[in-house]
Amino acid sequence: MDKSKRILVTGAAGFMGSHLVDGLIEQGCLEVYGVDDLSGGYESNINPKSKFTQLDLREKNKTRDYINEVKPKIVFHLAADATEGRSQFTPISCTERNYFAYLYVLVPAIKNGLEKMILTSSMSVYGSQTPPFDETMPTAPDDIYGVSKAAMEKATKILSDVHKFKYVIMRPHNVYGPGQNLSDPYRNVVGIFINCLLNNKNFYIYGDGAQKRAFSYIDDFTPYIIKAAILPEVEGEIFNIGPTKEYTINELADIVLKEFFPDGNVPSHLAPKYLPMRPLEVLNAWCTADKAKKILGYQTSVDLAEGIKKMVAWAKKLGPQKFRYLDDLEIVTDETPSTWVEKLM
Ligand SMILES: NC(=O)c1ccc[n+]([C@@H]2O[C@H](COP(=O)([O-])OP(=O)(O)OC[C@H]3O[C@@H](n4cnc5c(N)ncnc54)[C@H](O)[C@@H]3O)[C@@H](O)[C@H]2O)c1
Repeated sequence: MDKSKRILVTGAAGFMGSHLVDGLIEQGCLEVYGVDDLSGGYESNINPKSKFTQLDLREKNKTRDYINEVKPKIVFHLAADATEGRSQFTPISCTERNYFAYLYVLVPAIKNGLEKMILTSSMSVYGSQTPPFDETMPTAPDDIYGVSKAAMEKATKILSDVHKFKYVIMRPHNVYGPGQNLSDPYRNVVGIFINCLLNNKNFYIYGDGAQKRAFSYIDDFTPYIIKAAILPEVEGEIFNIGPTKEYTINELADIVLKEFFPDGNVPSHLAPKYLPMRPLEVLNAWCTADKAKKILGYQTSVDLAEGIKKMVAWAKKLGPQKFRYLDDLEIVTDETPSTWVEKLM
């Protein structure tokens, strides 16, 4: 990648976006621009060597004017409402923050000479097909968030076919690590478990905790999204990124608790409590990463116990965070998890 090229990272104050900005600057990229509306990200995540603008990408005209001015050649799009489990209760804002905001960036970027889009999608596009998911499977999302990500992917391909910009699609899953928003009660199971314990409260597990996931430490994601932007042979490709070893949520809970209580004596008030499964939650979801291993040289370097150790050390320094609930759920019914309606955490 030509390091003098103008790069834009959306979601630059967010967890993965801020690590990406740091990585690009460390690699010597000279013109790294970032935007974020700070709805889920933090000012403290913003790299001072980047050129940051606070902007809500749902504001179509402001976004167009911004892109007209910056004229980025490479865009890493990470801005999103990534609260997958909540999206059934906020279908409009999820679609606005994901699909619409993406088009509000992409369309003016194409008109201003975009060379390459690196879109961060999600494993949610596979829905409830049988894992491990591989990139040849069709997209079959089962929830509103997954629908928005699948639509963003499809729009990228269609507009690239017609307007001839290059693109790569990354599908990470369950990324965790320092810099993550601990105050979000709707997503990031690792962060929620840690923040509950920091607040001296138990955490909640939806269902019986036997559902399986694979978890990616942030340092095992950032180098590969950068590589995806650099390697010419990956144009138009889709990559799953993430470890293939899966854990049940109960196993994850044990690992987090062990980090706080190494002797195994968990105070009774901090034992996890179980709640009904959230509607449409996919039971088992993990991917193969064979393609990323072969083409991007992907490998897992931080296993879950080690990653949790690092994240807990960071979180303890940060201290307990108050959970920030969203007051405008668009649909509240008996199906809405009590953790959100009753603000249990
Ligand atoms: N963390 C994961 O496990 C994971 C897994 C799969 C995919 N992803 C995708 O990766 C990307 C980054 O996720 P993350 O975990 O860093 O989440 P994050 O919430 O930390 O980052 C997203 C950022 O987007 C910003 N944002 C939201 N709406 C915006 C808007 N309208 N205008 C401008 N900025 C806006 C938020 O303020 C936030 O800083 C997202 O696209 C997410 O869907 C994340």
